[in-house]
Amino acid sequence: MVIKTIEKLRETLATARRENKTIGFVPTMGFLHEGHLSLIRKANEENDLVVVSIFVNPTQFGPNEDFETYPRNIEQDTTLANEAGADIIFNPSATEIYPIGSSSWVNVEGDITSVLCGASRPTHFQGVTTVVNILFNIVKPHRAYFGQKDAQQAAVLTKMVQDLHIDLELVVCSIVREADGLALSSRNTYLSSEERKQALILNQSLLKANEAYKKGETDTKTLTKLIKDTINTMPLATIDYVSIYSYPALQEIEKIETPAIIAVAVKFGKTRLIDNILLENSK
Ligand code: PAJ
Repeated sequence: MVIKTIEKLRETLATARRENKTIGFVPTMGFLHEGHLSLIRKANEENDLVVVSIFVNPTQFGPNEDFETYPRNIEQDTTLANEAGADIIFNPSATEIYPIGSSSWVNVEGDITSVLCGASRPTHFQGVTTVVNILFNIVKPHRAYFGQKDAQQAAVLTKMVQDLHIDLELVVCSIVREADGLALSSRNTYLSSEERKQALILNQSLLKANEAYKKGETDTKTLTKLIKDTINTMPLATIDYVSIYSYPALQEIEKIETPAIIAVAVKFGKTRLIDNILLENSK
């Protein structure tokens, strides 16, 4: 069932809540792939009712980013989401979510939002935390599902839920990759075949650093250099950042202390891809 208005969704969910059904929620911007579907399947396993939102959120895109061209295919998304176990697809318009005159923002402050993607996309996380908060207020889920693919987003939203005492369980699910290691992303469709080939270097460089770490290298500068040198072997790659931080607080570290995250953002032509690996326990 596709629902477009907040009123209709609230009505439908009120009935489910009266029947004591648990509600699992998967927020997305659509153009669904296996990464999204893994979240929907998990939500389906753990809840009586699954709501998937499909909303390309204008407030998380910067002025020169790809809001207009972001891939959209609601018919295909509806089929895929239903097959994976979605009961309700919430596909609101921008004015439904942000009526004329709306002027409230939710901000998570500090390193957690200012480093990594926050540094190159300064208004991005404010857009994400605001829309997710709005969606939480509409859906009032028992559990909400996010991917580790967007590790900083997962960390920021976990902090928001803690700080604002939002009454739900936030579940973070592991990264789904293609057989050749490329992390699934709706933006992969922008890649030319040569760019896609070269983009494999993201995962490969992270695995290489992980190997070096397992063999005893804990100096973050050395590991960062190893990743940068590996990525720079690809002529079409332009590095935005290669960083190692504590996780989930995203504090700078000189030596790896776990849990830590290695995160990379690299442009291939106009397409900016991100990937990461978590270093969880010592060797
Ligand atoms: P979107 O990029 O559509 O992603 C929706 C969810 O799918 C996010 O939680 C993301 O981390 C997860 N996801 C994407 N690719 C994945 C992969 N390869 N493996 C596992 N999970 C993956 O993230 C957003 O939308 C938006 O910022 C949103 C949270 C919906 C707010 O607008």
